[in-house]
Parts: sequence; C-alpha cells; structure tokens
Amino acid sequence: MSSQQSPAQAGAGTPARKAITLHHLREMHARGEKIAVITAYDASFAALVDAAGVDAILVGDSLGMVLKGQPSTLSVTMEQIGYHTRSTSRGVKGAFLIADMPFGSYQENPVQALRNAGTLMAAGAQMVKIEGGGWTPETVRFLVERGVPVCAHLGLTPQSVHALGGYRIQGKDAAGAETLRQHAKALADAGAAMMVLELMPSAVAAQVQADNPQLMTIGIGAGPGTAGQVLVLHDMLGVTRGRLPRFVRNFMEGAASIEDAVARYVKAVKDGSFPDPALHAY
Ligand code: KIV
Repeated sequence: MSSQQSPAQAGAGTPARKAITLHHLREMHARGEKIAVITAYDASFAALVDAAGVDAILVGDSLGMVLKGQPSTLSVTMEQIGYHTRSTSRGVKGAFLIADMPFGSYQENPVQALRNAGTLMAAGAQMVKIEGGGWTPETVRFLVERGVPVCAHLGLTPQSVHALGGYRIQGKDAAGAETLRQHAKALADAGAAMMVLELMPSAVAAQVQADNPQLMTIGIGAGPGTAGQVLVLHDMLGVTRGRLPRFVRNFMEGAASIEDAVARYVKAVKDGSFPDPALHAY
C-alpha cells in the first residue's frame, strides 16, 4: 500500500492506480483541470469507473431511485448508504470516495451529523455530502473542524423535493440566484471544499465559482462553468428507464464497452465537450 492510499484504495490484486486525495483534487482545480465525478454503489462498478479514470466516485442517495426503484431519495437510510459505501470502497483503487448523507441523518444538529459522518468515513468515505443552504454552514464548520471533509449541495436538492414542489430548476430569477450565491458563500466560508450545483442556469453556477475561486464546484445540469461535473452512472449509461433530464448524455452510444463509455465521459469533462452549453440555457 503506498503511503498516499487508504486501505480501500489499495484494494487487492490489480496494480494500484495513484490514489487521488483531496489535496490532488485541489491541485487539479488550481491548474484548471476539470474534475470528473460519477456515482457508483458497489465494488464491481467502482472498480470499472475507477479503471476508466474518474477522479471521484459519489455513493449517492440517488441509489434510492436507480437501485431501489423509489420515486425519490427520501427513503434511503444510513444503514443502506453505509452498506453501499463499504461495498464501493472495496472496488476503488485510486478515485476519491464521497458518500452522501441520507435525509434525516444530519438535520437534527451538528453532533448527529458528526456521528453519522463518522460512520460513513469508517465505511471508507473520504468526504461526506450534505444538501441545502441557510442552516447548513454551522454543521459544515462543525464537521470540517473535526476532520471531516465536506461537499455541500445547492440548487435542486433532491431531499427537499416536496418543499421545492418537484424536480425544478432553481435560481432562475434574480432573487433565487442571489440566495444561491449567498448560501454558497456561507458554505465555502464554513469550510466546504467541494459543492455540487444541481439544475440551475449556467450563469448562476459560473458566478458561484467566480465568487469562491478555491471551492471545487461540481455541476449537474448547471452548465460548463463549474470546476467539474457529476452524472448518475445509470443515467449516462442509458440504463435508467423513462424520461431523463435533457442535460444527461448517453455515453454508451458509440462506446465499445461500459468502461469505454465512462472513459469517454471523463475525456469529455476534461476537454470541455461535456456539458453542452446549449442545454443549460434555462
Ligand atoms: O445522489 C446523487 O447521486 C447526487 C448526484 C446527483 C449529485 O446527489
């Protein structure tokens, strides 16, 4: 095991890819290299997307929808995210591993958030993700000061689907955009190293990145002006049935294999050919 690898990243068998740490991600961002993130939920797909060259893997609570077949992420439990984080970590050789904190696992108070974040870090996560702005900076600061790297998540926050009135684009009017900017600034100041920006006009996402140059913004349906991109694995492989958001590209089209499709995604994120700016003119 190299000194930079976590036990999960060292894995067994195949030669180890150089382990990507938070420090490496920050260096990539500083030199303007785009960060390619994808979701995975088990060891086999983690090994595959890792070999395809993704920089980070998110064990997303999207598993509630793509694995469990639920209409939202709300039913996902700590036990389930813990199980999938442990499984995923066993497949990872080099990618940085982020785990989603499920609905109800961090909202009570910062102590509850720390206890549950600790469980996910023990399961192999190197960072946890929490949704929302306004009340979350206190929790982010509490976690970061105690050694837990945090990814924030603003814009369409799926755990708030009922409060938001559906899966709707956020920050479309001036007041909404300003609220997003203020929430992002407060979260960055509280120590969030990374921030998912979901389903918002590209100009708003680009402004959040410009306001907070050191923050690694990771867009999904938020245009090309972020530090990186994330997609749900099942969506970008064309596995998800039903209507997909228009920003999703099916990378299986023209690909020789699943690994090739993910490698094409990584390349497209890195060279800026994904996402297509025309699909984010909300
Ligand atoms: O749960 C998830 O997969 C996510 C991504 C859509 C960012 O939060």
